[in-house]
Parts: sequence; structure tokens; C-alpha cells
Amino acid sequence: MGKVYVFDHPLIQHKLTYIREKSTGTKEFRELVDEVATLMAFEITRDLPLEEVDVETPVCMARSKVLSGKKLGIIPILRAGLGMVDGILKLIPAAKVGHVGLYRDPETLKPIEYYIKLPSDVEERDFIVVDPMLATGGSAIEAINSLKKRGAKSIKFMCLIAAPEGVEEFQKEHPEIDLYIAALDEKLNEKGYIVPGLGDAGDRMFGTK
Ligand code: URA
Repeated sequence: MGKVYVFDHPLIQHKLTYIREKSTGTKEFRELVDEVATLMAFEITRDLPLEEVDVETPVCMARSKVLSGKKLGIIPILRAGLGMVDGILKLIPAAKVGHVGLYRDPETLKPIEYYIKLPSDVEERDFIVVDPMLATGGSAIEAINSLKKRGAKSIKFMCLIAAPEGVEEFQKEHPEIDLYIAALDEKLNEKGYIVPGLGDAGDRMFGTK
């Protein structure tokens, strides 16, 4: 079974509190999500492999470590996932960025893919799928189905806040995939919002309603 990692770093938790606060305006909300995404990227990349190279310091030659050429891909789920991309790219600027767009079918309530664009070498990349909220799990599950269908072999899912119901559904559908979250909240309400959550992540990020 995939693991659930809760990033309880004090900086992440502090910033998440102000992301949740309803009086936080669009500009600050966006900046905070960006900062938390950077901090989460720092944690999620802990297991990247290293190799030794020669380096000439002003003092002498030395052996030192560099990343050993892992190819990474970031896949935001449209639209709220977009708010996490730049923060991750600050730490891993060589990552390629794909996009997955999903809408909810009004009759079946199932997420349907309406847009997908991935890097051409899908099979060789390690992907981080990002969306601020894992609520019912529907979008995350479908986005990962879309990636797997196109040959993706290595996938992680990263979000700010997850509901226990979403984690359970996600693990049923994708039991091998690890989840990286900043907070596991209490529940979903009858409208599908995470409680206590932060409201609608897309609306708060883009100033819509
Ligand atoms: N999507 C959101 O943006 N917020 C929620 O609480 C649930 C899903």
C-alpha cells in the first residue's frame, strides 16, 4: 500500500493556517500556496538519487555530489493545481510541466478528461501530480488514470489538504502511489467541501466566485 506522508514542518503548518483563514486575500493566498509548494517540493525530493563528480574548489580538487539525472515531471490538475507549479519549479527548474484538465459530468458526477498534454517521454519520467485539495479523490484518481493510460510508471501525488474519504478512495484505486500532504482534515461536508479546509481553492487563488 502506498504511504501517506504528512509534512508537519513548522513553516508549512504556519503558512497553511493563513491559507485557511478566510480573510486572506487573493494575492497573499497565491503567494502562500506558492511558498508551501516550494517547501513541500523540498521534502518530496528527499529520495532523489545522487552521484559523485569531480569539482575544483579554490582550494583543491574534490569529489562532490550532484543529482544523477532523474527526469521529473510536474502535472497540475487544472485549474487550482496551477498555483503549485511555480513553487516546485523554483527548486527543480529542469522539471517538465504537463497539464490535465477534468470536468465533472453533471449526470454521472464522474470526472471526465477534457485536456491533457504531457512531456513526450512519459515512460521515463517521475511525475508529481499536484492539486491543492484531495476531497472525494475523484479528480486525482482520474488524472492518474490518464497518466497511467499514457505509460507513466512513476507517480507521486501532492496536495495541501486531504479529506480522509478522499485518501481512502485514492488508495483503493491507486494502492501503490504515495500521497504527500500538508494536512489531513476531518471530513467532507454534504457539498463536497473539506472541513475545515480552506474553501474553494481555485476561486481563492484566482479571485473568482
Ligand atoms: N475543492 C476545493 O477547492 N475545496 C474543497 O474543500 C474541496 C474540493
